[in-house]
Amino acid sequence: MLSRRGPDAPGAAELTAELTALGARVTVRACDLQDRAEVARTLAELAADGVTVRAVLHTAGLGELAPLADTGVADLARLMGGKAAGARHLDELLDPAALDAVVHFSSVSAVWGVGGHGAYAAANAYLDALAELRSHQGLPVRSVAWGPWDGGGMVEAGAAELMARRGIPLLRPAAAMIALRQALDAPEAAVAAADVDWAAFAPSFTALRPSPLLAGLPEVRALASARPDEDPADDAAGTENGLRARLATLSPVERGRALVELVRTHAAVALGHTGGDEIEPGRTFRDLGIDSLTAVALRDRLAAATGTTLPATLVFDQPTPVALAEHLGSLLLPKDTGDDAGALPSADELDRLETALTRRADDDLDRVRIVMRLESLLSRTRNGPTADPAADTGAGEAPADAATLAGRLGNATNDELFALVERDLGLK
Ligand SMILES: NC(=O)c1ccc[n+]([C@@H]2O[C@H](COP(=O)([O-])OP(=O)(O)OC[C@H]3O[C@@H](n4cnc5c(N)ncnc54)[C@H](OP(=O)(O)O)[C@@H]3O)[C@@H](O)[C@H]2O)c1
Repeated sequence: MLSRRGPDAPGAAELTAELTALGARVTVRACDLQDRAEVARTLAELAADGVTVRAVLHTAGLGELAPLADTGVADLARLMGGKAAGARHLDELLDPAALDAVVHFSSVSAVWGVGGHGAYAAANAYLDALAELRSHQGLPVRSVAWGPWDGGGMVEAGAAELMARRGIPLLRPAAAMIALRQALDAPEAAVAAADVDWAAFAPSFTALRPSPLLAGLPEVRALASARPDEDPADDAAGTENGLRARLATLSPVERGRALVELVRTHAAVALGHTGGDEIEPGRTFRDLGIDSLTAVALRDRLAAATGTTLPATLVFDQPTPVALAEHLGSLLLPKDTGDDAGALPSADELDRLETALTRRADDDLDRVRIVMRLESLLSRTRNGPTADPAADTGAGEAPADAATLAGRLGNATNDELFALVERDLGLK
């Protein structure tokens, strides 16, 4: 048993005792597999002790994770060293004629990709490729790409529940041993062994981009063909009509509020909170802790609640509860039905107007036209929404309703424009 710490590794003595009691002859050595000379020296010492190495389980590796963009060349060398360089050194230094089996412990991160596993996935892909190559050349080399294991090791304690929710429950070691036996008997040089709940895993894994690999698996194809019958739009036709009818009776402001509450309630359930109060309407879903799995759960819930077909990218396209509520509103009550005729412009629209006006010079005539129209609008609506738009502005003889004034401002020559300033608005 080799590792950089050798006999100093935690549990080394207990494991040696356990294996010895089972009848094995155990040697524990400190050996850095990344260091070719150390590997050569260790194998020479074993040979001098009369040990012929016939089978190797290559399990060395570092489970440190980082996004590929933050991984420099030195990091790659360090993170891949024990695994990839170690495999290479064993490949070069073991006597192929004596070998019954070399088994690389690889990972599913090399098979379908896992966030943050850049260097780790590359190292494991190297193991798979080396096994394919040597197996093709007739050597007994195998690579098993494991899903996460239960019972300690690289997977953090307490990850079981999260992994199960993601559709990758932890592999029980006893089941993994059966899979290992099957992998050794299989004709393929590189296999994956993982406990996957495809109904949970496939939709969340493909939430942001398709996976041709997963799409080709029989279990995933079966799910996809079952889906049309389970279209939430079918199930929720009644819900949709009820919601749409309820929204239609509300004012734009109440409607906006109701939709934000709908989104908050479902987001809270998807994120495992007890109530919508914990979902701040203006915060991004990412900040609220949503990931690809919970994004799909929220999409499914809202699709069922609204009776609409919604994309898996929904919460990434509409990044806050408020934005998502507005989007749902536009799907349920499209503007062209006239339902939104009384809706006030959004804060964004006013911001855009303000920015455009402040960027123009004071004497820019287009700016003057807009400012005048706004001032007219303000002078007419200052007393509240019930003020009669056709009422006299009090600024002169001609009552200026909004449409008339807009038309006159739009078509006026510069001289007429200044005359309008004096006559209609008293703003000279
Ligand atoms: N646990 C899982 O869920 C899982 C899933 C997929 C794949 N795997 C793979 O299965 C293998 C075992 O996983 P594990 O969970 O048992 O990991 P672990 O507990 O972290 O053990 C990794 C071992 O590799 C040794 N090591 C690291 N770098 C080395 C080097 N340069 N030379 C020699 N030894 C080195 C470490 O000991 P020192 O630090 O003393 O060197 C440690 O004993 C790993 O290759 C891992 O990638 C594990």
